[in-house]
Amino acid sequence: MALNFLFYRKSLIALTGLFLCVFLVVHLSANAILLLPNDIASELYNSYSHTLRENPLITVVAYVLYISIVLHAVVALLITLHNRKAKPQKYIMDKSQQNSSWYSKNMGILGTLILIFIIIHLANFWARIKLGIGEEVLLDKNGYKDVFSVTYELFQNIWFVLFYSILAIPLAFHLYHGLKSGFKTLGFYHKKGLRILAKVSLIYAIIMGVGFGIIPIVVYFK
Ligand code: HEM
Repeated sequence: MALNFLFYRKSLIALTGLFLCVFLVVHLSANAILLLPNDIASELYNSYSHTLRENPLITVVAYVLYISIVLHAVVALLITLHNRKAKPQKYIMDKSQQNSSWYSKNMGILGTLILIFIIIHLANFWARIKLGIGEEVLLDKNGYKDVFSVTYELFQNIWFVLFYSILAIPLAFHLYHGLKSGFKTLGFYHKKGLRILAKVSLIYAIIMGVGFGIIPIVVYFK
């Protein structure tokens, strides 16, 4: 019974986590446009953002994304609480200290930092652009919402630049361990395959961490 509880919940975390990993690839590719010279970047970024917002299929995917973020966070919290209840006291000789890395043991803390990041990030962009909350988003010369200017202005504030760039570090560690263990949870046990997967996860996490971390800095200095 307890094993079933863990199995289904861990599988749900793995599936939603893998979906979020795919979202991040698409999101980073879109945001890489910000690295281009401003005159090219502004038109491209605004028309890309407009196309996504107006596409009904992407709207459905966006709802799956919101549900995945909530499920991923809530179920991870439930498992953490369940594990604490089952193991309230630390073992006197905690062997896990020797066998696993600090980030694999602190996925909850890393995940919480990322959740705080996502909440602030959605308030910065999504709430303003999609829900129309806060300062009005102006239109560009093509009549599209000027998402580029919203982003550019935010990254003229050094505190937001630091916040976004520093939070890319826990994001990278969370993704590295999450991607590796997500496949294992879903039943991928091939030994050599797992070694390759660990390398792929490392490369993926570095690209995501460096990519999301560097964009605000480049925009700030442009
Ligand atoms: C350089 C860093 C980033 C920039 C410049 C950025 C920019 C944006 C912008 C402009 C939007 C609104 C898009 C629109 O509605 O047209 C958005 C939405 C979003 N971002 Fe980011 N983002 C960054 C990093 C991240 C990271 C690291 C995550 C997750 C850990 C993330 C998660 C999301 C989510 C979940 C949405 C809502 C998506 C939707 O409604 O379709 N973003 N981002």
